[in-house]
Parts: sequence; C-alpha cells; structure tokens
Amino acid sequence: MILKPSNLDQKALDQVYAAARCLKVGGVVAFPTETVYGLGAEVANATAVRRIFTIKQRPINHPLIVHIGDLSQLTYWAQAIPKSAWILARRFWPGPLTLILQRNKNVPDYVTGGQSTVGIRIPAHPVALALLNAIGSNKAIAAPSANLYGKISPTSAVHVATILDKKVDMILEGGDCEIGLESTIVGFDRETVSVLRPGGISLSALEWALNKPVILAKNEKRSVRVSGSSSSHYSPTTPLELYPATELYPAALKLAAQNLHVVVISWSNHHPTQFGNPRIQHISMPADPVNYGKQLYATLHQHDQAGFDHILMETPPAQPEWLAITDRLQRARNPNNR
Ligand code: TXA
Ligand code: MG
Repeated sequence: MILKPSNLDQKALDQVYAAARCLKVGGVVAFPTETVYGLGAEVANATAVRRIFTIKQRPINHPLIVHIGDLSQLTYWAQAIPKSAWILARRFWPGPLTLILQRNKNVPDYVTGGQSTVGIRIPAHPVALALLNAIGSNKAIAAPSANLYGKISPTSAVHVATILDKKVDMILEGGDCEIGLESTIVGFDRETVSVLRPGGISLSALEWALNKPVILAKNEKRSVRVSGSSSSHYSPTTPLELYPATELYPAALKLAAQNLHVVVISWSNHHPTQFGNPRIQHISMPADPVNYGKQLYATLHQHDQAGFDHILMETPPAQPEWLAITDRLQRARNPNNR
C-alpha cells in the first residue's frame, strides 16, 4: 500500500521529487520515517551506498536495511520467504518492522555486508513512501538511521542537520517521528520467529498476529553485525546512568556536591518536587511507553548538548511494553559507568 502523493502538499511533493532526482544521480538523502530519520542511497548505486558508511563512520560489514515502497516488491529483493514473514509483512507494513530474509540476487553484497540475508521494511511515513514511489518499481533505498555510528538516532530533520549537515546532499523535512525508536527487527529460522532488536512493534503484537510464541533473542545471541547490539550503541556524549526512583536523587546530590551539573530524567513521581539545588535540573517524561518512546531521543539530544556533566535517568518499568526503551537506555549508558 503506497500512500498517494496527494497526502502531501505541493511544497513537500517538490522536495520529494528533488530528493528522488538526487537519489537517481547517486546522491545521499536523509529522509523521515515513522521510527527515526534514515540516511538513504539507491540500492543499486554502489558508490552512493558506500558513501553512507563513510558519512556515518560505520564499519562496512554492518548491513543496511532495504526500504521498499510496496509489498509487491518483496520477492524482487528476498526469496524463500517463510509463511510467518508474509503474515507479519501483511499485518504490519507499512510500519516499524524489519524482516531479515534470504536475499535475492538483486541485493548487492555492499548492502548486506556480504551476508546471505537482507533486512527489509516498508516505512509508514508519507514522505518516505512518496519518495519510494517516485524512484520507481524495482528500486529501493538502502538506509541506516541518520546518526553517526554508535550515537543517538535523529527523530527530527533538525537533529540530522546538527549531526550531518554538509555531509549529505539533501535532508527531507518530515516533522517529528511518530514512533521515535527504531523498527523491531525479526529473524526467521524456518517458521521459528525471533526478535533481534525490540522496537516499534511489541513482542505480543507479533505473537498475536502469528498466533504462536516469538523468541526474544538474548543480546549475546544476536549477530555481531546487528550494530544495535554493540554495547555503546545509542550513546550520548555525556555520561548517562540509570537508577531506580529511590536512588535517583541521592545519586544526583552526590554529583552536585562535587560541583557537577546534573540533569535528572524521570517518568514516575518519586522525586522531591521542591528540590532547589541549582546544579540539578529535573525533566519529567511521560509515564506511558508510547509517548516516552516518542520523546526519548529528542530529550537525550537536547540534554546531551546542554553542557551537563551527567545525565541520570530513572530505570524504566520492567514491563513488556517498555522493552525497546529499556534496551536503548541500557545501551546508552556510558560503558565506563557499568
Ligand atoms: O527504524 C529503523 O529500522 C531505521 C529506519 C531508518 O528504517 N533504520 C535503522 O537502521 O535503524 P540501522 O542501520 O541504524 O539499524 C538496522 C539494524 C542494524 O543493527 C543492522 O546491523 C541490522 O539492522 N541488520 C540489517 N540487515 C541485517 C541482516 N541481514 N542481518 C542481521 N541484521 C541486519
Ligand atoms: Mg542505527
């Protein structure tokens, strides 16, 4: 299902067509998706795809997700597609779900890092879909998140511009990302389905659609090439630590007593409201995972650049709906503080 360009106004459409032309001549374009902004090149253009790795400073054996515009394109890029994959694609695309499938001959080595599998998804953002529509059938966009390797993903065009600006040929504006966390990545072993990276689609939503259990792959079992599994991924530059509610302010006070500036980011109400310590700033996040997820990266970007010595975050609830958030925060923690 492609959202027709009529969903966009003329200005947005002009931008989309300019971006499509840019991709066609080998450009690298940052574009919005419902999860995070992507850094895209046309799959068939080896030079442009390689530039993505250079811009991101990402190891070249880390595979990129192939973004397609319509389900009818799936068999052009993948083969031996398990029944479970079809069910998930039909149920959740366009949407925040990436399927790892056996690649077809049309997927070049430089996109998959030489692996025999390829990650594919149809993004659910009208600008992304219009762009995929505009580049034509049997064309696709290879794109990782538009951040530097290991850093926080961008959820607005301004984030992309702050990080990558002159390094990319064009940044397509598409507002703030609706989901704010990367897609759920799902792998298949015949009809056994496992989540390799928790994300926008929950485990229980997958199980509900498939009517069978889905395995959550343990970190150490995830491929080393799933870059999201490296320990320092999604890190802000400022040291970030996680504490349960009751330990949050004692930890902040300790740092403030050493003359350090601290931002405390919590979601519950277990904090003293009248704190009054000039070295401690308090930020309240939504207590529901959907809105929390949507704001997380923007909040981290903002406070990473605000000159704090430490970011202290409240541990998220240990509930399944918070899985993707917990995963990202654990990786965002400064490895030296673990
Ligand atoms: O929401 C998203 O997935 C965003 C938007 C832009 O679509 N993309 C994104 O891409 O997060 P990236 O490259 O930052 O993360 C994709 C992850 C990487 O960790 C990569 O290693 C993994 O997907 N991946 C891609 N292809 C794979 C494959 N064939 N096998 C295993 N992992 C794969
Ligand atoms: Mg990424």
